[in-house]
Amino acid sequence: MSNARTEASYSRLQHGDALENLLHEDRKFAPSAGFAANAVVGAGVYAEAEADRPAFWARQARLLLDWDTDFGQALDWSEPPFAKWFVGGRVNAAYNALDRHVENGLGDRVAIFFEGEPGDTRTYTYAQLTEEVKKCANAFESLGVAKGDRVAVYLPMIPEAVITMLACARIGAVHSVVFGGFSADALRSRIDDAQARLVVTADGTYRRGKPSPLKPAVDQALTAPGHSVEHVVVVRRNGQDVDWVQGRDRWWEDTVGAASAEHTAVGHDAEHPLFILYTSGTTGKPKGILHTTGGYLTQTAYTHRAVFDLHPETDVFWCTADVGWVTGHSYVAYAPLVNGATQVMYEGTPDSPHQGRWWEIVQKYKVSILYTAPTAIRTFMKWGREIPGRYDLSSIRVLGSVGEPINPEAWMWYREVIGANAGNHGEKKEDPAPIVDTWWQTETGAQMIAPLPGVTATKPGSAQVPLPGIAIDVVDEAGASVPDGHGGYLVVREPWPAMLRGIWGDPERFKETYWSRFEGMYFAGDGAKKDEDGDIWLLGRVDDVMNVSGHRLSTTEIESALVSHPWVAEAAVVGASDETTGQAVVAFVILRESAPSGQDSGDATVTELRNHVGKEIGPIAKPRHILVVPELPKTRSGKIMRRLLQDVAEGREPGDATTLSDPTIMAQIAESLATRN
Ligand code: PRX
Repeated sequence: MSNARTEASYSRLQHGDALENLLHEDRKFAPSAGFAANAVVGAGVYAEAEADRPAFWARQARLLLDWDTDFGQALDWSEPPFAKWFVGGRVNAAYNALDRHVENGLGDRVAIFFEGEPGDTRTYTYAQLTEEVKKCANAFESLGVAKGDRVAVYLPMIPEAVITMLACARIGAVHSVVFGGFSADALRSRIDDAQARLVVTADGTYRRGKPSPLKPAVDQALTAPGHSVEHVVVVRRNGQDVDWVQGRDRWWEDTVGAASAEHTAVGHDAEHPLFILYTSGTTGKPKGILHTTGGYLTQTAYTHRAVFDLHPETDVFWCTADVGWVTGHSYVAYAPLVNGATQVMYEGTPDSPHQGRWWEIVQKYKVSILYTAPTAIRTFMKWGREIPGRYDLSSIRVLGSVGEPINPEAWMWYREVIGANAGNHGEKKEDPAPIVDTWWQTETGAQMIAPLPGVTATKPGSAQVPLPGIAIDVVDEAGASVPDGHGGYLVVREPWPAMLRGIWGDPERFKETYWSRFEGMYFAGDGAKKDEDGDIWLLGRVDDVMNVSGHRLSTTEIESALVSHPWVAEAAVVGASDETTGQAVVAFVILRESAPSGQDSGDATVTELRNHVGKEIGPIAKPRHILVVPELPKTRSGKIMRRLLQDVAEGREPGDATTLSDPTIMAQIAESLATRN
């Protein structure tokens, strides 16, 4: 991490107007007496956890999970930053998510209501899902997948994604899910880094009513000789024709479908790797974040229960995240099932075939807990309150937010339009559903900061309080805790059960990235502020990571993609604020002589470069705008001053440019952009 860049962003956070506005938020919404009385977690939990954190987590681990072998020490922190939780314990994630519920007489409870984009539906009870996972585990074993082997998963939001993940967990194979929006190149680098033995994919999926292919990207990713993949299992989802490699490729229905439904789960060590999930960091190369079994399951299950006030007998939970992201791992594939809850899984986009699709789903399945991202909420705001107003959303009793800061306007809209809706004739609830804004990361594995809906008086726009058993702080440059009313860097002071155990294959990078900025503390990469009550407000990243529609992207990674194009000499990428998506990718490029020139070349060049980024990383990373400039603003030591580019991208007069090696550059850029437009 470049400290100079961190500090520049940090000082912006300190002085931004938005920050001052945030601190003037004085609305507070206390839980109703009725909600508090029935809440699964009460106020006493904070003191209980504070008294002895490892002991608190050990109690949760035994309460929420069935262990094959009980553990001894709750936490071994003798070799920081490498933690071991629940030492010596053995536990099987799939058994905990499935078999035990069937054994406990809950086999007929619905585990997943699946809604496909074209309107096809499937319902899996716990008994049925258990059977599918057992078959899948047998099928993977018959393909030679053994404990510790890596399995790449490149699937749409269909039940087979969850089945695959749990089958891997069952046999101790390590899944590495790659979001379907990533390109063949991105998939290839992830397969190579993890040395995956098996890939599970589908012929395709549906996007806005149209079939959209997936398998061609896998085929393309596996064209290079010497890759590690032996087999590709293909789910038939949309019936598209696919190329076939004899011997390597197998249809899911012929492999999993034909396998035996008898499979006994055995416990794996609490620290056995559960999955790798690649995420963007401050360098060009994505990091394989490694999570292990016991601690991850404990904290995901605990937070799912406490933060959403889960009553598994009656609630219907819907987390709208794709399984390709950590939210879909923790709060679709694992926690809801470990907790024996009923959940909805939806394949498509919110506007397909109409802008009321989500609310139709909430009404149809009587969703009681909805967990989504601020980008989605802001999109619905744009579409208008009449749309959700046409549906009966009275089943909703808790609303969650995740992935990016939620602005107070979006928070209030969420509360009033979704949380207070008591029927499709404009009826209003007297007691709207509480909103829980949850801060966490791929690295933290589970929620870390969030209100407890039966305890905390919530404030629009703030994630507020560290969860019980989690030691969060906001510190200054020197690592000292800032007083209330001040801002700084968000850190975690003590190890937590679901923390990442490392970066796949790169222990040094793990130490350097997260544990070197502040002695003995985990540095999250986020700026934060404590308000006068000590509540925490998240202020966005202070490093080179952008957050576009809740998706995490690296400026450096996109810059590398751009300069890998023969026309590009230099590139600088910034995340410009955007009303709906939080941030948007804006790229500044200097072209080489070899790039086409002339009057009409501009648009064609930009299209070519956008597509190139799409090919290198994936459509989600395509810059919103690419601005061709004659020079980039650099300091005398050659550092690009992104702050000035950010000003340009956000339509402001550029700030102080006196440290530039050539102070006329900003004027040159402005002139070149003016003549182009
Ligand atoms: O900047 C924070 C933002 O998302 C980053 C983590 O991204 P990712 O690993 O993709 O995980 C996203 C889903 C857990 C964080 O460093 N972020 C996440 N949740 C919030 C948030 N920013 C503000 N408020 C949140 N609730």
